[in-house]
Amino acid sequence: MQEQIEQILIDRNQIAKRVRELADQIAADYRHLSDEASEDLPLVLIAIMTGSVIFLADLVRCLPMMMRMKLISVSSYPGTALSSQGVTITDELPDDLAGKHVLIVDDILDSGKTLMAIRSRVQQSSASSVRTCVLLRKDRPSARATPSEYVGFDIPDQFVVGYGLDYDDLYRNLPDVVTLRDEVIA
Ligand code: IMP
Ligand code: MG
Repeated sequence: MQEQIEQILIDRNQIAKRVRELADQIAADYRHLSDEASEDLPLVLIAIMTGSVIFLADLVRCLPMMMRMKLISVSSYPGTALSSQGVTITDELPDDLAGKHVLIVDDILDSGKTLMAIRSRVQQSSASSVRTCVLLRKDRPSARATPSEYVGFDIPDQFVVGYGLDYDDLYRNLPDVVTLRDEVIA
């Protein structure tokens, strides 16, 4: 796997530091939420599979408040596609989001179609608030135009893998965010 890496864009130490910073910011912003375990627990994290799993796992362990977590699947980059092929939400959203504060977690903001689709679905469910948190945001107009309250890193408009992000479902287990050699993704 290592010989297929072109360049390490963000290494594991930078990621770990930034994830802690994001968590501190999120914890401060949501500090008004009550922290009792109850049926109406106000904070719900909705994480978009599969790319966000590693980010989610690291992020939530830095967050001190009570929360529920829902994992949903969305397909936009099937197989070896390198650009969004249109968003299909393959799981239903939870049906009890009314009155909840919802934080959507994803790996990367690219065309913005995924986050726009989920955000508007959550808004329709009468949630009290909806925010989004992404580890990466690509430097392209559609990504910048998509609202996201928490952004880990702005990166060039390049295809990246690692730390959960895949190419054809591979490379998710790389601990750093990297680019691949041209011949691998050709
Ligand atoms: P969007 O809907 O175009 O913003 O795309 C979001 C989804 O596409 C992300 O959640 C990723 O799963 C996938 N994606 C976008 N860019 C990349 C990339 O550079 N590498 C791997 N997956 C990507
Ligand atoms: Mg994804």
